[in-house]
Amino acid sequence: EAGKVHRATTTAPVNIAVIKYWGKRDTNLNLPANSSLSVTLSQKSLRTLTTATCSESYTGPDSLILNGEEEEIQSSKRTQACLRNLRQLREEVEAKDGSAPKLSKMPLRLVSANNFPTAAGLASSAAGFAALVRAIANLYELPQTPQQLSLIARQGSGSACRSLMGGYVAWRSGTKEDGSDSLAEEVAPVAHWPEMRALILVVSADKKGVPSTAGMQTTVATSSLAPARFKDIVPARMAEIEKAIQDKDFETFARVTMQDSNSFHAICLDSWPPIQYLTDVSRAAMNAVETINRKAGKLIAAYTFDAGPNAVIYYLEPDSRAVAGVFKNHLPRVEGWDNEFGAAIRSNEMGGL
Ligand code: PMV
Repeated sequence: EAGKVHRATTTAPVNIAVIKYWGKRDTNLNLPANSSLSVTLSQKSLRTLTTATCSESYTGPDSLILNGEEEEIQSSKRTQACLRNLRQLREEVEAKDGSAPKLSKMPLRLVSANNFPTAAGLASSAAGFAALVRAIANLYELPQTPQQLSLIARQGSGSACRSLMGGYVAWRSGTKEDGSDSLAEEVAPVAHWPEMRALILVVSADKKGVPSTAGMQTTVATSSLAPARFKDIVPARMAEIEKAIQDKDFETFARVTMQDSNSFHAICLDSWPPIQYLTDVSRAAMNAVETINRKAGKLIAAYTFDAGPNAVIYYLEPDSRAVAGVFKNHLPRVEGWDNEFGAAIRSNEMGGL
């Protein structure tokens, strides 16, 4: 038994928010200024695969290899918070069962890789921290539910808490100072609305721009529009989009999704110094969606943008030709995606875990 390597492997999906998280009310605990809601994408095309091992025979500190390169995790407060929380839960398991191996005392070695190019500029931290937490929770045989684990993943990256569940997932802001009610909740499973699709338009593969943590701080400190968004606008939109999801009302879902993306980018531009994530190509994608919707005489496509220029377009499968068809011929090819995807475009089914 001595020197045995304990091991667990898992995957976690990417999620793309339709109601955006942008602003923290507590930077240490990663508590958000507003609730948010996302759709989990299929792991067939976008996911992080993570293996966690630990052993008495390991020496040295915990380590993480991400996409083949060693990451410096000792200085990462976020990663350390996740590891500390998970070890505490393992200690509870060991205290209850005296014969359980003392995994909490052993160094961890984590190996993680995305099945999509990190350089594609897609939010990979959500899937990354969700997979890290899930893999260690499996290794430690923790009894906690995905919702309880979302409290830990949240401390790695806010949006990561939404990647522990499939389908339509809300991150409830919560009100408690210790963050114990700031967690993810499944609003509807993927099977509730199986026609939903997401198209990812890779406008730029660059990883430039203002990182989310710094951008949020600037916005919270300087945007005069942000308080109204946090207090009234987002709570109303959360209620509206949750009802639209329950009713499978795509037109409302699409309108609220586009309004909220625009509201998020408006408070970015309203920050000082201003933050601009959208480019001319992003705006061309917005215009294309507007043209598609005008031609259809109703909303059949919805764009949304995170902290970068890449567009995600939501639509329903019966409208594939009218939506995806329009974009297919107009996109640059992005290295790393060509083999598997044929182009810098990928039509995703929605996913679960
Ligand atoms: O959790 P972070 O630090 O990766 O921030 C995510 C911010 C957005 O992607 C822009 C919005 C969101 O809710 O995912």
